Amino acid sequence: MLIKKPDDIKPSEITAESVYLRRREFMQLAAGLALTPFIGGGSVEAKTLQSLKFRTGSAYSSKEAMTDFESIATYNNFYEFGTDKTSPAKYAHLLTTSPWSIVIDGEVSKPGKYNLEDILKQHALEERIYRLRCVERWSMVVPWIGFPLADLIKRFSPTSKAKYVAFETLHRPEEMFGQQRSVLNWPYVEGLRMDEAMHPLTILAVGLYGKEMPNQNGAPIRLVVPWKYGFKSIKSIVRISFTEKQPPTSWNISAPSEYGFYSNVNPQVDHPRWSQRKERRIGEFLRRDTLMYNGYAEQVADLYKGMDLKKHF
Ligand code: MTE
Repeated sequence: MLIKKPDDIKPSEITAESVYLRRREFMQLAAGLALTPFIGGGSVEAKTLQSLKFRTGSAYSSKEAMTDFESIATYNNFYEFGTDKTSPAKYAHLLTTSPWSIVIDGEVSKPGKYNLEDILKQHALEERIYRLRCVERWSMVVPWIGFPLADLIKRFSPTSKAKYVAFETLHRPEEMFGQQRSVLNWPYVEGLRMDEAMHPLTILAVGLYGKEMPNQNGAPIRLVVPWKYGFKSIKSIVRISFTEKQPPTSWNISAPSEYGFYSNVNPQVDHPRWSQRKERRIGEFLRRDTLMYNGYAEQVADLYKGMDLKKHF
């Protein structure tokens, strides 16, 4: 039987880390029996998406052509709804996203449980057109609607001990049935160093393409860190904690030799099982060169000056 190497696999067949977690499906994939469609087969949205009010014209926005809404909303990684790219669009409508609250805790002056609506009243929304580059070597250009994470952090005033920001996704297995299987250590957690969290490119997004966030993309609120691999951009956030020590992160817990804390997009540091030099932009045929920090080197390279990026991958 022909077992394909990652570089031989067409974008239409990329099935993520799950390929390696689910041997049976890997065997099917290798046999060409379970090809993931390039564009997922799920419904784009079960609920009606409300339009949002937001500013446009951010200096941080990419000028590249945007990926179409259909692809952004039907080709997703959201393991809480299954490991297949098409599952989130099929099942994420089961998630209740209102009411929604976020716990802010740890090294912070104003800890508490806050209604998302009250948090959002404090923030003007803007559009940020950013590239999203997945560790599996596909990429998209997404017109996110959100606000800088730095604005929220300043409002809750972390103490001088706060060196990191940790994020946690909702744990509700009765609605997120992927959580009924131990594919990952639930709830999904992620973290940033404080200077990364405060960087003006880092946003909390509540929508895309001018509308509220489709559930499959991380409703009602998710992180977007455009210079890091997509998995750092945690979805459906219910807790933001300020910590003195580097927090654990889901993919690092799952496979520490493959996913580091930083996970900056870096074509010079291969994933142990495949090269990161190239990527496939969804909707394009030919592969592109992957850019250092996903093309945001000018803005973020200074954050990592003097660090050995092979060690801190
Ligand atoms: N957040 C949670 N809670 N669960 C996940 O499985 N997947 C990550 C990230 N955030 C994930 C998550 C990965 S691997 C990627 S590539 C992006 O979400 C995909 O975001 P998108 O579906 O909006 O393209």
